Parts: sequence; C-alpha cells; structure tokens
Amino acid sequence: MKHPHLLHRLLDDSSPKVAVETGVWKAQTTQILATLFREVHSIELSEPLYQAAAITCKNLGNVHLYNGDSALILPTLEFDEPVFYFLDAHFMPLNRTKESIPGAFPLWEELDFIIERSHSDIILVDDIHCFGNPRGDAPDWDNVTRESILECIQTKKSVLKSYDFHDGFVVHVE
Ligand SMILES: C[S@@+](CC[C@H](N)C(=O)[O-])C[C@H]1O[C@@H](n2cnc3c(N)ncnc32)[C@H](O)[C@@H]1O
Repeated sequence: MKHPHLLHRLLDDSSPKVAVETGVWKAQTTQILATLFREVHSIELSEPLYQAAAITCKNLGNVHLYNGDSALILPTLEFDEPVFYFLDAHFMPLNRTKESIPGAFPLWEELDFIIERSHSDIILVDDIHCFGNPRGDAPDWDNVTRESILECIQTKKSVLKSYDFHDGFVVHVE
C-alpha cells in the first residue's frame, strides 16, 4: 500500500475491529493496522519475509503472523464479527518463480472464502494500478478489474458501497 498511514480515514466507530492482511512484505502496512485494530492477522508466503516481519513486529502484541499461501490460510482464520480484509498478496521480486509457488495469485480464492461469511466486512483489494495490467511475472492481473471483483462478490453478498481509496479498491458488504 502506498499510503498506509491514511488507512484510518476508511474507519469509524462502527468499523471492524479485526484486520486480516494477505501479503506482508516488509510489514509496513501491518504496523499501521496494528495501531487501528484490536487484532491483526497477516499472512506471508515467503519464509524469509515472514521471518523478517516476525522481528519487525515482535513488540506488537496484537499482530499474528502466518507463513504460507493465503489461499490456504485465510479460510482457517474464522472470526464471528466483521473483518477488514486487506488483500495484497501477489508476486514480489523475492519470490518471482511462479511455478514454485502454488496459489501465488490468491485473490479469487481469498474472495471465494470471504463472500461465504455472514458479516458486514470491508474488503480492500490493493494495487488498482495493476488491475487489467498483466506484467510478465503476474499475468493473472489481466482478469482483475473493479467490475470483476464486484461481480465475484455479488454472487453471494450485497454490496453496500464501493470506491477507490488511493491505490486500493474498497468494497463494503452486507
Ligand atoms: C505487495 S506485497 C505486500 C505489501 C504489504 N501488504 C504492504 O502494504 O506493505 C505482496 C506480498 O505478497 C506475498 N505473497 C505472494 N503470494 C502470496 C500468497 N499466495 N500468500 C501470501 N502471501 C503472498 C509476497 O511475498 C509479498 O510479500
């Protein structure tokens, strides 16, 4: 996320108290989320990045880090309350080899899990600048548009509102 320090502008007293982030990278957003939510659960595929994030976040008692594929770990994180989902798991230079990373573009699997929930979650899909813009190392972005995200969500959930927030596409579901 380009401006994680602005994330508080998305929230008010009725917002979720739990945040789940997919794709930790250097834990910059994780640390901001830790100041805004009661608990933060962040999933990172890369073992070295996970280990580094564990050191970065070692003094943040409300941050829980998981090492693995978010497509597999996200469904194991069940919360009986609304959740703020920050979906940002995709290729970065440290794990460039697609073939070695099953489920390396987990967005659709993440959404498939989230839309089965019965809570008024907020979903932020980060990196609008990549939407519909396949790169050599991440061709799956080709299918990602605001419309395709909404279409996926609306197969199971009602959308209260959706809007752009800096480089993130935000969807409030009912
Ligand atoms: C754009 S970075 C995340 C940036 C971070 N959320 C922030 O705002 O600073 C993407 C991260 O997703 C991780 N990643 C890629 N595929 C993943 C997957 N299937 N599950 C979890 N993490 C994944 C990459 O290793 C990388 O660290």
